[in-house]
Amino acid sequence: MSLFSQIRKDRVPSHVAIIMDGNGRWAKSQGKDRVFGHFQGVESVRNSVRAAIKCGVKYLTLYAFSTENWNRPKEEVDALMELLVNTILNEVPSLNSQGIRLKFIGDRTSLPASCLAAILESEQRTSANDTLQLTLALSYSARWEMIEAVKKIVSSGVSVAEINDQMVSNAMETAGMPDPELLVRTSGELRISNFLLWQIAYAELFFTDKFWPEFDEELFYEAILSYQSRERRFGKTSEQMTQ
Ligand code: IPE
Ligand code: IPE
Ligand code: MG
Repeated sequence: MSLFSQIRKDRVPSHVAIIMDGNGRWAKSQGKDRVFGHFQGVESVRNSVRAAIKCGVKYLTLYAFSTENWNRPKEEVDALMELLVNTILNEVPSLNSQGIRLKFIGDRTSLPASCLAAILESEQRTSANDTLQLTLALSYSARWEMIEAVKKIVSSGVSVAEINDQMVSNAMETAGMPDPELLVRTSGELRISNFLLWQIAYAELFFTDKFWPEFDEELFYEAILSYQSRERRFGKTSEQMTQ
């Protein structure tokens, strides 16, 4: 029986973020080249989106390409960009039929023109949807985002005394989104790799050894159930939480 039936619908995180990792190693395990793993990973994106919607998650943020990933071999970067452009545009009708709003975070100035055009078009064509906001982090790194935020704040001319938590959040790429309550990483790596460092201050972390191309709806439910089993204390004591 599906784990879905065990999920408490009143305690579902509103925002789930995922570091989609392990495409290359999965492909290698199948005797294929790395790009095959990236292609297969698209199906896992569909699985995670479907599961998120079933659970009632409102924001799903996926790490698709980091600033550091530009340092990979040119053939892999080119193949990834081509896959992204084709997938983004091909998926728009399906996104619209599921009520999914697509959004991108990251350094748009570093993207090839075809990729930027696909981003702008898909954001615009899905802008009226509100079942789920699917955010793809593309040419993204948290330190880049933080530096940009500092620049915005300083150049706005605010006084030092006015700077607060909310102002910094509003200067981030994720302005207007709640912080992720749950961060998932596949492939057995136990690190954050420069993803959403400001926003995950109090996120619950879920790591799985499964590679991203193996990610299915059940694994998403497993992550949600793990989240629901945690006591989120936010610095307080357990006794205070049960009062
Ligand atoms: C994640 O899989 C996808 C991207 C980072 C673009 P990887 O490509 O990092 O696969 P591994 O981690 O090398 O197996
Ligand atoms: C993180 O995965 C970036 C994405 C999932 C897009 P990497 O595979 O690039 O991270 P490291 O190099 O293992 O830290
Ligand atoms: Mg990796």
